[in-house]
Amino acid sequence: MRIAKVLGIAGSPRRNGNTEFLLREFLRGAETSGLETELIILCKLNLSPCTSCDSCQKDGICVIRDDMQMMYKKLTEARFIVFASPIYFCGVSAQLKAFIDRCQSLWSKKYILRQPILGPEKVRRKGFFISTAGTPGNKKVFAGAIATVKAIFHVLEIEYTGELLYPGMEKKDAILTHPTEMQEAYSLGLSLGKDQ
Ligand SMILES: Cc1cc2nc3c(=O)[nH]c(=O)nc-3n(C[C@H](O)[C@H](O)[C@H](O)COP(=O)(O)O)c2cc1C
Repeated sequence: MRIAKVLGIAGSPRRNGNTEFLLREFLRGAETSGLETELIILCKLNLSPCTSCDSCQKDGICVIRDDMQMMYKKLTEARFIVFASPIYFCGVSAQLKAFIDRCQSLWSKKYILRQPILGPEKVRRKGFFISTAGTPGNKKVFAGAIATVKAIFHVLEIEYTGELLYPGMEKKDAILTHPTEMQEAYSLGLSLGKDQ
């Protein structure tokens, strides 16, 4: 049996910040449950935003030659996908938004060219969203980011399965003083093993 792959996408431009710590805990849990994991730090990639050139509407291929080219395969092959992003002005980070927008070529392939974007194996793909925000208390601040993540999961045929949303995390390592939240991230990752 092939070991299912868990792809973690870290969207914060701030290294070793709240969302990266949570994502690492999630992946540690997934690995403990026997799954293969891969962590991608978006701010380390060379990633340009979509220019709306519409070239992908002809062949489903993005003309921009950068690190996104290696990401398409990873995105369409992973069984579990986890997006982690801080809330920036009620949305996801610019890094994650650029990454999501570059999936427009997959959107074109699917909805304009009517071609499959996934392989023939009909596996249920599951997706998770991890986010933190500075504002304390209210989880409404996550609504815009959740809508964006759900929209791209829908295109990529990923079921929005779970979320970890923590407000009141302004400082870079604030999450480290919240062991319960770190434990929640680990436990959610660990629970993926049951899905095998
Ligand atoms: C450019 C920018 C915009 C932000 N916008 C918001 C916001 O709209 N609402 C909010 O509650 N926090 C906002 N924050 C705070 C971050 O969401 C918060 O510090 C988060 O925990 C950072 O996660 P990270 O450590 O993984 O980068 C903003 C921070 C920055 C730098």
